Amino acid sequence: TRTQVGIIGGGPAGLLLAQLLHQQGIGAVVLENRPRARVEARQRAGLLEQGTVDLLREAGAAARLDREGLVHEGVLLSYNGRRHRINLSALTGGACVTIYAQTEVVKDLIQQRLAQGAPLLFEAEATRIEGLQTAKPLIYYTYQGEERTLACDFVAGCDGFQGIARRAAPAGFFKTYDKTYPYCWLGIIAEVPPSTDELIYAFHERGFALHSMRSSERSRLYVQCAVTDTVEDWPDARIWEELHARLGTAGWSLREGPILEKTITPMRSFVTEPMQYERLFLAGDAAHIVPPTGGKGLNMAVADTKTLFDALRAWYQTGDGELLRTYSAACMRRVWRVQEFSNYMTELLHLNPEKSAFDQHLQESRFQLLTTSPAASQVIAENYVGLAAQRAA
Ligand code: FAD
Ligand code: DHB
Repeated sequence: TRTQVGIIGGGPAGLLLAQLLHQQGIGAVVLENRPRARVEARQRAGLLEQGTVDLLREAGAAARLDREGLVHEGVLLSYNGRRHRINLSALTGGACVTIYAQTEVVKDLIQQRLAQGAPLLFEAEATRIEGLQTAKPLIYYTYQGEERTLACDFVAGCDGFQGIARRAAPAGFFKTYDKTYPYCWLGIIAEVPPSTDELIYAFHERGFALHSMRSSERSRLYVQCAVTDTVEDWPDARIWEELHARLGTAGWSLREGPILEKTITPMRSFVTEPMQYERLFLAGDAAHIVPPTGGKGLNMAVADTKTLFDALRAWYQTGDGELLRTYSAACMRRVWRVQEFSNYMTELLHLNPEKSAFDQHLQESRFQLLTTSPAASQVIAENYVGLAAQRAA
């Protein structure tokens, strides 16, 4: 088979790119190695920036998001039980964030693509890419037990951190940068209405905790745990005990409910530079990973997708390759801004047992500054809603 854009990966980046191209009459085939049910069930992000919501609307994929998404105008930070509200909309000229789970974004995009009869293959695993230096690269993939090839003009590597696209460039072509953190997140979904209207990010001397939500009936909660922990180390009672201790404040209580799911997420920062090799363009987690604090991974994947879409559209509609040539540079400024913000939020809010007493005092003082300086809160607000990221781009 052949197409115009060969997309490896049916996560948010690959699916959204396919839809935006489809709207312009540009053909694409999406290869996704997992079954549809797996892709739709993977619990990940839940916080959408305004720019992400706007782009999903532009893609015609926001009908349910507009009905079910929860719009938040503020966010709470807590330091050992002292809370500080950051008024996102007041500090950013009206911007806000929307809570709507990544599982639902992905379900909406899959349903839309299948309803259009556009090609999206599940259990289709890309194995290698050839001819990236020619005008007709070839993606090799296995599907229904057979090796097949997909010929295309461009390859979009949207296959996440474990994907193969990044490895298709000659060894040493991509420079990588990374950092790992000495803690993980244990995340749960609980069948209980959220105990808060706005998200609570808490530093506590027992470790970080986050109260988020999936809907008015379901809570999404996280606790910092050790890198050596497994879910067996965290029976339900221990999770609730830590959540009460870390999120608690006078006059407030946390509602408990049945825990439907428990997963542990490692924390890492990772950057690939540049994001293009010849006719291969990387987008989303295939190119970079941020620690989850601040909810930027999904939003950055969507921002890359928009930049790549604009470049491909220009090339197909006017023959102008300038935006394709500058794709990586256009993304990298935003990538490093988001990396810095995610690292800042992570280090501000976690208990790092490796930190000196001196550095722990600096951490507390940084928090203190937020409670006394609107300017400091504004920096967080702008990055959190994604305005600064858009300006940097
Ligand atoms: P992905 O969603 O990873 O999609 C890549 C797709 O490619 C996958 O469907 C994969 O199956 C497919 N694929 C891989 N290899 C191949 C191949 N060889 N052939 C075909 N298909 C292939 N972000 C937040 O903002 N907040 C969070 O709380 C949060 N929690 C997370 C928890 C976990 C466990 C993980 C892994 C990520 C989390 N993230 C979070 C990050 C966020 O989910 C990602 O940034 C987002 O999924 C990126 O989208 P993507 O489309 O680039 O990649
Ligand atoms: C969620 C995850 C995050 O990392 C975050 O900063 C905010 C919300 C979530 O899963 O709801």
